[in-house]
Amino acid sequence: MEKSRYFEYEKRVKDAYKNLEKSYLEVKDSYTEMIFRLALVAEHKDETTGTHLVRIADYSTEISRGLDLSESDIERIKYASPMHDIGKLIIPDEILKKPSGLTPEEREVMKQHAKLGADIFQGSHSPLLKAARDICLAHHERYDGTGYPEGLKGDEIPLYGKIVALADVFDALTSVRPYKKAFEFSDAVDLIKDQAGKHFDPKIVKAFLGRLDRIKEIWQATKDIEQFVAEKDM
Ligand SMILES: [Fe+2]
Ligand SMILES: [Fe+2]
Repeated sequence: MEKSRYFEYEKRVKDAYKNLEKSYLEVKDSYTEMIFRLALVAEHKDETTGTHLVRIADYSTEISRGLDLSESDIERIKYASPMHDIGKLIIPDEILKKPSGLTPEEREVMKQHAKLGADIFQGSHSPLLKAARDICLAHHERYDGTGYPEGLKGDEIPLYGKIVALADVFDALTSVRPYKKAFEFSDAVDLIKDQAGKHFDPKIVKAFLGRLDRIKEIWQATKDIEQFVAEKDM
């Protein structure tokens, strides 16, 4: 082949490849954004804020990095973790939005959100949606077997579920809820440490502590935003 034609051919192949990559990234972006928006619906119904979902993704990502997971695992957990409570979409409003204490029967209904969320993704072949299924099903399991829905113990609990369980509890501790004030950062960290081997897998706690600088930055960023909003509203 003559040299100039070869270069032209090479350029066309490169351009085609670039376009393909661009379309792939666009599809991936809309796919992950769609999932995030769906998760927001569930979270909105529960009257917690969208920032909770962003932090769950960020905290879970940091723990995954602390565990030295592969980039594809980390990406999966980042995008699947915000869906942990999507099953709440199916919980009746009179229970989900009940202002004061639930009866034991209502608490049992509420607990079904884990299984209901997993059912939404059941049978999917997408690695991301399979991760979402594991996370929905296992984010309320506890390392010592006292969690729900299945009372799984130790390594019976899927890894993604164990990671999101810690991220979710840490964020709940450090957030204001209608019935409680937010814990200070160091108090919440102490509580997590204390639950190693009980609520949480000690390996996950170790990974969380290994990324504490980054965890604190994420926590601080929310504090700054909340303060900014509060001052603006005054
Ligand atoms: Fe949950
Ligand atoms: Fe949550």
